[in-house]
Amino acid sequence: MAADGGDGLTEPHRAALRGAPRPGSTRILLEPNLDASKPTGGFLRRFFRLAGAAEPSRAREATVIAFASGKGGTGKSFLTTNAAICLHRAGRRVAVVDCDFGLANAHLLFGVTPRYSVQHLLDGAVSVQQALTATPYGPGLVAGGSGVSSLAELDARHMQLLGRALHWLAGCHDVLLLDCPAGLSPQSLTTVLASQHAVVVTNPEIAALTDAYALIKCLARQPSRPQIHLIVNRVTQAGLGEATFERLADVSRRFAGCEIHYIGEVPEDAAVSQRRLGQPPLTVSHPQCATSQAIQTVLRNLECATGGLLPMAGETPGVEARMAAQLRRW
Ligand SMILES: Nc1ncnc2c1ncn2[C@@H]1O[C@H](COP(=O)(O)OP(=O)(O)O)[C@@H](O)[C@H]1O
Ligand SMILES: [Mg+2]
Repeated sequence: MAADGGDGLTEPHRAALRGAPRPGSTRILLEPNLDASKPTGGFLRRFFRLAGAAEPSRAREATVIAFASGKGGTGKSFLTTNAAICLHRAGRRVAVVDCDFGLANAHLLFGVTPRYSVQHLLDGAVSVQQALTATPYGPGLVAGGSGVSSLAELDARHMQLLGRALHWLAGCHDVLLLDCPAGLSPQSLTTVLASQHAVVVTNPEIAALTDAYALIKCLARQPSRPQIHLIVNRVTQAGLGEATFERLADVSRRFAGCEIHYIGEVPEDAAVSQRRLGQPPLTVSHPQCATSQAIQTVLRNLECATGGLLPMAGETPGVEARMAAQLRRW
């Protein structure tokens, strides 16, 4: 298929998405033959310095869900943090890993100042337990580190260590939510592909939709990939989310051979965009408002689609093995 503009989209895709070619198109940057060298035993012992606790068992792993998008700013961090809070209130053991390395902000949305981030974890300075920060609203958080350019370009060995950390976290939680960076970078795709479910967050406008399709198409090409669910965030009228989904689902089916699953819409809400630092998350301050209720509906749909948002007994391969498999492919 002839692609134009370097983003892998052809004219029929664009026509179907009803949009003009957008400037500054996304390039797919996959590094070939990444060779993940084995971490040393000493490093791993430090990594899992568990103060006497055993490494969690592989038998039951949390459901791992990546919140992803093609375009930045679609609302992944807002939805990930608020979804985590709602799941905690529903009795789940839940942790968020801010995988938007270098540009992380989940800690701000949770109102915490973590002592350690994934940067310290991957440097071997702290254990995964130490990097797991408690938040006032229940979920644990592994913060992503902000303004650290080296984190934006993690190599295969670091990704392997991240897989190991996710494995540990998955062993002691019911649900792991990964707040992924936007776009199609190798780190982002590897993280999404290591998850069991990908929640693609888009907005109704064409730029977000086009980039969401680019991400779906990229995931669809992989031999093994997560189930793809769609949230349409920032809708300005009820029903726009479903109409947006229908368009994207049609294009994804026809041109990428990929089925996606709709889990709901979340309204545009000034109470979200005008939130100031230090204010509690919306689902805490206004649990009954339309936006918080929409998030609850999305979670109910996700729960149905994922078989309960609970640890998966005896599931093989686990998150670490899925990540290692992706790293071997690239
Ligand atoms: N439903 C919404 N209504 C209004 N503003 C929103 C909504 N969802 C997200 N936003 C705003 O959009 C911006 C980007 O959200 P964020 O969650 O940081 O996006 P991402 O993590 O995808 O980059 C933030 O300013 C956020 O407050
Ligand atoms: Mg974000």
